[in-house]
Parts: sequence; structure tokens; C-alpha cells
Amino acid sequence: MRIYLIGAGVISRTHAETAAKLGEEIELRVADPNPAAMAEFLEQFPGVPSYTNASDMLNAEPPQDDDIVIVGTPPFAHLEPTLLGLQSGRHVLCEKPLAMNNEEAELMLEAARKAGKLLGCCSVRFKGMHHNETVKQIIRSGQLGDIYHVTWVNKWARSRSGIEYQANSRWFLDSARSGGGVMMDWGPYDIAMMHDMLQPETVEVAGAWLGKPETAVDPADTKFDVETHVGAMMTFRGGISGPRPVSVHYERASCTHGDEYVKVEIEGTRGSVKWTPFDSRQPVYIRFDRDGQVVEEEVPLPPRSPYTIMDHPLVHFHRKVRGLSSLANVGDRAVDHFRHLQSVYGSASTGQSQLTSIHPADEEGQA
Ligand SMILES: NC(=O)c1ccc[n+]([C@@H]2O[C@H](COP(=O)([O-])OP(=O)(O)OC[C@H]3O[C@@H](n4cnc5c(N)ncnc54)[C@H](O)[C@@H]3O)[C@@H](O)[C@H]2O)c1
Repeated sequence: MRIYLIGAGVISRTHAETAAKLGEEIELRVADPNPAAMAEFLEQFPGVPSYTNASDMLNAEPPQDDDIVIVGTPPFAHLEPTLLGLQSGRHVLCEKPLAMNNEEAELMLEAARKAGKLLGCCSVRFKGMHHNETVKQIIRSGQLGDIYHVTWVNKWARSRSGIEYQANSRWFLDSARSGGGVMMDWGPYDIAMMHDMLQPETVEVAGAWLGKPETAVDPADTKFDVETHVGAMMTFRGGISGPRPVSVHYERASCTHGDEYVKVEIEGTRGSVKWTPFDSRQPVYIRFDRDGQVVEEEVPLPPRSPYTIMDHPLVHFHRKVRGLSSLANVGDRAVDHFRHLQSVYGSASTGQSQLTSIHPADEEGQA
């Protein structure tokens, strides 16, 4: 199988590492106009055929049915390479966030349909971790009763992409290049996981807000206009909760002057589950009532999967291309998740509630 990497930066190098774990012979090719990024890539992966632009790479040979193009460029440069990949007759796995806005996401979907190829999004990075799969099984078993409330809060005091993390990639801070802040950076993962757990048929964002706490190290030499703290009240309807609406209290911060904490909990009429979706070293707890008393138990976890979070997007997409059961988000679902993400911005800017319909899970029941 051949994998074409567009972008030779930080994330493309992780995809190139994963390619060696797919259990079959993979030939890599890479395109990036930036000589420094390319030099670093080739130092780590010597001998990979390299190009200074994506068209030259994709036009250098005719497509094969199972070719995969991975778009690992910043968000402002997702649309064009994704269209190029699909129009060249290849499947495309695009980094998160899928696009800059809904219009771009729709153009991608249209191109995928026209080409008869898969369009996937890397927002599935945390899907398939052993502790998240365990929580999914607890929810699906019905032991929590009717699910009615979700708390999904991740607040980090100082973890801004482009400042504390990957300080050289300043594009994260500029909305014209990133499309937005922590909602575009971490929101795709939150949404992909919440949908995987709860499989909603519609999502209503009743209200949302954006914040940008100030610090002494805020860069003055670059445009910095993205939110680093976001919150929303959402209602999920349909899916595993049946007719009962599920209220979701959502918050995500890469910078806050408030307390740094993570609290992710799903509450039902007969019990709750609490865990740390982004850290598989942390335990999973269930709580329930026994004889009128609160009981908390740690849930035994199965062995860890051999794959890391950095492997998952390509591992899941590769399985999809091979026709195997997969946790990949492709086509309509990838775009629905992105529309849900955008509805948080929509609600924050208009003050109005926003409704998004979600296509049904595919034949494997994967959301
Ligand atoms: N860095 C991470 O930890 C991380 C994790 C998950 C997802 N991502 C996502 O991956 C994407 C890229 O992030 P990154 O951290 O690798 O950025 P980066 O800045 O390290 O690399 C991006 C590369 O894309 C290249 N590029 C830009 N336009 C191009 C084009 N038209 N054709 C070919 N190459 C082009 C740039 O020259 C640069 O080398 C973003 O969407 C980001 O959200 C990054």
C-alpha cells in the first residue's frame, strides 16, 4: 500500500511512524514546500521520495485503489490538499479540525462522493483506548439506567498550542490560519468521543461562550485572536439514551486562571461512570446505590492496545480502507461532527441555540 503525506511537520512524522505498524508493506511519499520541515522528516525517514508540492507528488504515478493521502498541514491548508487527494482518485485522511468552516467541509464531502473515495478525519485519536472502550461497554450494558447527564470538563492552566506547546507553530494562535482556538484544537476529540459513547441523533447547543485569559507571555509579535477557554450547554437526543434527552455540560480550557481539573462523568438513573478519557493510566470508577449507601468501585480494565493515540487515526482508517470493522469517522459522520463543533462557535457568536442532525451510525455501529 502507498501512503502520501501532505505536510512533513510534527504530526506527519507520527503518521509515518504508524505506517510501519500496519502489518503490511507501506511505501511512503511526502510533500512539503518548507525545506526545514522536509530536512527533519528525511533525517528521521531517509529515502522517502519527497516533493515540494502535493500536486507533483500525486501526479507522479497513477492511483491505486487502496492509496491513502494524509493531510497533515495546518487547518487553513486542509481544503486544497484534501480536494487534490480525492480528485486524484485516492482515499483521504485529513487532520483535525477537518476544515476551517462548514462550507469547506461540505466541499470535501462532495469531492469524496464524486470520487467514490473515503474522506476520514483524525479526530478519532482517542477512540479505541482500552479505558474508553470499557466505559462504552458500561454505558451500553444498561447498568447505569437511563442516562440523563454528562459532565465533560477538561481545564488546563497553561497548555496553549503555539505558546506552551509547540511554540514554533504560531499558526495555532491566528484564527485566519487555525480557524479557532482550543475548540478547534481539542474540541474534535471531545466531540468524536462523546458521539462514540452516546451516539446522538441530534445535538442542540443551547448556549456557548468563549474566553481568552491573559498572561504575561502572550505573544505580541504574532496575531493571537483565538479562544483558549470554551464552554457550552448541549442536549443530545436519540441514540443510546432513547427518547430521554441527555444534558451535556461541556468545558475545555488550554488556559485558565481558575482551577485546573478534569471531570468527565456520565450519570444515569441507576449509576454513574467517571474516568479520564485522555489519560489511560487513570482508573475508571462506577458509582451506584447499595442499600441506600453510595458505593464506588474501580472497574478492572482489559490489557492496553498495542497502539498509541498517535497511531489510532491511521490504524482505524487503514482498517476502513481494508473493509474491516473500524472506529474511523468517515464521510457524513466526519462532517456532522465538524458541524457540531462549529455550532458551538455559532451559538457563542449569535447567542442563539443551534441544532445539528447526525447521520446514523454505519453498519458496524460505530459513531
Ligand atoms: N502537533 C500535534 O501534536 C498535533 C496533534 C494532533 C493533530 N495535529 C494537527 O495536525 C495538523 C498539522 O499540525 P502540525 O503540528 O504537524 O503542524 P506543523 O506546523 O508542525 O507542520 C505543518 C506543515 O505543513 C506544511 N504545509 C503547509 N501548507 C502546505 C501545503 N499546501 N502542502 C504541503 N505542506 C504544507 C508546513 O510547511 C509545515 O511543515 C493541524 O491540523 C493540527 O491540528 C497536530
